[in-house]
Amino acid sequence: MRKPIVAGNWKMNKTVADALALVNGMKAELSAIEGVDVVLCPPFTALAAVGQAIAGTRVDLGAQNMHAEKSGAYTGEVAADMIRELGCHYVILGHSERRQYFKETDELVNKKARAALAAGLRPIVCVGELLAQREAGQTEKVVETQVRGSLAGLGPKDLLATVLAYEPVWAIGTGKTATPAQAQEVHAFIRKVLQSLADESVAQSVRIQYGGSVKASNAKELFHQPDIDGGLIGGASLEARSFIDIVKGAL
Ligand code: PGA
Repeated sequence: MRKPIVAGNWKMNKTVADALALVNGMKAELSAIEGVDVVLCPPFTALAAVGQAIAGTRVDLGAQNMHAEKSGAYTGEVAADMIRELGCHYVILGHSERRQYFKETDELVNKKARAALAAGLRPIVCVGELLAQREAGQTEKVVETQVRGSLAGLGPKDLLATVLAYEPVWAIGTGKTATPAQAQEVHAFIRKVLQSLADESVAQSVRIQYGGSVKASNAKELFHQPDIDGGLIGGASLEARSFIDIVKGAL
């Protein structure tokens, strides 16, 4: 049985003061929810404060990105050990906004995933097609290329420590959610790709989140599809009540 995992991707939102107000308004209720792994991914600047606020609760911490190298002359970048030190156990990699605005490739995401795993972090690797690609019937091809490229060379142990997030780009921040059936179809396909990368047992064990305009009103139906194991939540994770209700949708 895969344990669902719901992560809040706060993106470039929340000062430290705002972040503390949000986390303090939801940590008790989130921590009382058993049966779902909950991860908060604030911006780098708020990781330390949020990490301290959730210490001793069941809620976990994740970063939104990291650099692939361990250290060095990379002005403005942050390494795996630095976020690990602040209490992160997860790191989002290859988010479509990173792919689109920062030109991240599958090859780079793969390098980052290896560095994250080597540092004891669990990567949340994002994949998903553009609207034009879906309309051209290329969804499976695009997603397969991203999964194979981003996870290239990872052995079963590393794959089991990895979380995948299927996020159709046309559904992110647009209010347009994939239907549960559309999402389920791609999730089942990703599991087939995982099977060919490893074996059936690994494919059945890796958690695959759905992301893209998840809200309290649609979370439950999405999360209860057979191959959907929770979600990666952007906009709706910025408000305590809506995030708590989304997490509960995974029960
Ligand atoms: P959204 O973002 O929930 O605001 O659509 C999801 C994401 O980008 O992870």
